[in-house]
Amino acid sequence: MAERNTLRTSAGAPWPNNQDSLSAGERGPLLLQDYQLIEKLAHQNRERIPERTVHAKGWGAHGRLVITEDISKYTKAKCLQKGAETPMLARFSTVAGESGAADHERDVRGFALKFYTEDGNWDMVGNNTPIFFVRDPYKFADFIHTQKRHPKTNMRSPTAMFDFWSLSPEAVHQVTILMSDRGLPQSPMHMNGYGSHTFSLINEKNERVWVKFHYKTEQGHDFYTNAEAEKIIGRTREGYQERLFNTIEEGKYPRWKFQIQVMTEEEARECAFNPFDLTKVWPHADYPMIDVGFFELNRNADNYFAEIENAAFSPSNIVPGISWSPDKMLQARIFSYADAHRYRLGTHYETIPVNAPKIPVHNYHKDGEMNMFGGVRTGNENAYYEPNSFSDQGAAVEDRSAQEPPLALFGDADRYDHKIYDDYGQCRDLVMKVMNEEQRQRLYQNMGGAVAGVTSDAIVERWLGHLKQVHPDYEAGVRKAMQEARASDEYQPNSHPVTDDTPQVTGGGAGK
Ligand code: NDP
Ligand code: HEM
Repeated sequence: MAERNTLRTSAGAPWPNNQDSLSAGERGPLLLQDYQLIEKLAHQNRERIPERTVHAKGWGAHGRLVITEDISKYTKAKCLQKGAETPMLARFSTVAGESGAADHERDVRGFALKFYTEDGNWDMVGNNTPIFFVRDPYKFADFIHTQKRHPKTNMRSPTAMFDFWSLSPEAVHQVTILMSDRGLPQSPMHMNGYGSHTFSLINEKNERVWVKFHYKTEQGHDFYTNAEAEKIIGRTREGYQERLFNTIEEGKYPRWKFQIQVMTEEEARECAFNPFDLTKVWPHADYPMIDVGFFELNRNADNYFAEIENAAFSPSNIVPGISWSPDKMLQARIFSYADAHRYRLGTHYETIPVNAPKIPVHNYHKDGEMNMFGGVRTGNENAYYEPNSFSDQGAAVEDRSAQEPPLALFGDADRYDHKIYDDYGQCRDLVMKVMNEEQRQRLYQNMGGAVAGVTSDAIVERWLGHLKQVHPDYEAGVRKAMQEARASDEYQPNSHPVTDDTPQVTGGGAGK
């Protein structure tokens, strides 16, 4: 028989009784000195950490990245060399819902990957869409406010969403994907992942190319309609968790093909569109897919909180051979995530096991809340500053080989108007060329149903104006579906009323 473990307090003292509190007399009040009870109550009060401000509801698993092709002419990254196998963690998520939200809601899905490479952690914090709603980070917080609850009603507000989107024509491409079949995948296994931004690869000769990362599902693009999803939510709010967890438990490991598109620095200068604009894809015909390998998820977390809730992904985590680009959104994200983690998880969030690199880490960060690495981890206890004279006695030194080639800049520092690009062309290709008739009709229905909840006609018309710029059939299809939705018995606008007296903002409007 296994040895029995003694129940102890956090300080290690044996716990005499975990059933009966210490009271003054059998029917009397409790004594303050029952510190075990106080410890228990206090710990329970601290069991929750702040949920992520976005992407709060998530599902994840461990796996491995395997590189099957030689792309060494583009990158020196050790984890991307042919034959390399790298342990990894994936966390999928919805964007808007809180941590208890139902899984099968129409939303963009987060697709965050952490690769534990021999050069430290490489994080690819992408989505299941190759583009995004906005192209300037100034607009991110406002966009997220429209996805969350109205301050007065505490309800989600279609009026706010379409007000913002209709004043941000760059959003029309992403909103179209959101309202298409891909806005409601059957499970995280049935969707692609995209790095979305343009990144860079750097080779042994220190030459840079621009790159897009694509992860193509091998499980197929299965989706649900809104009606199907409503039924599932009536049965379970945890449909994704059930499906992902159980599939992996059954030993059926989901896989994604790992591909890249490459653009040279020269091509980027000549490119007709801004290759660093997050609302644009790189057309496949011009920038063909290059196979790199695959990844699979093959192990569930032993403890959801420790390994998935505590996971901290950040676009700032790159490794030699892989880097960022001038994409303004990406530049802001390089700051934002580590800042969020220090708040959500604590100063030394990177020492939490799921976030800790799988290699020894030496640096000159010191002390701080939750320091679990014991004072300094510079490699020499006398070297608690840098530069120092102890480099030949273990003190950590710089590695200049990790330095990137210089980045050529063009133009003056200024606030450049980001509203001057074509916001409709790629969306038009998607709706009119890529989608078939059934897919288009479902898009119209989904979009029409969502617009039906908007309580301001001016906002509706401004939004439909954008769809008309994409294609008149798109506008007509959505208008018809919206009218049908409003005429249905189930129609019930749930947002805080906004009347047509609401001041209308000009600029970025439908006529542009
Ligand atoms: P292609 O015909 O070569 O590519 C179209 C791609 O669209 C497909 O390969 C597929 O991407 C994706 N797709 C198919 N059905 C849907 C859908 N219902 N919702 C969203 N995406 C879908 O043409 P282009 O490369 O010139 O792209 C045309 C348009 O396709 C773009 O403007 C963009 O809207 C969309 N698209 C393009 C992608 C790209 O990286 N070029 C990626 C995804 C969408 P996948 O293979 O990634 O599944
Ligand atoms: C989560 C900020 C754009 C994908 C988050 C979090 C923040 C944030 C603060 C919560 C992090 C945490 O608490 O752990 C921003 C900002 C953006 C931006 C400031 C733009 C300026 C994007 C884009 C994508 C994206 C463009 C995808 C291409 C994700 C994902 C998560 C996330 C997948 C969840 C990561 C996880 O699973 O833990 N974002 N974001 N974000 N973001 Fe963004």
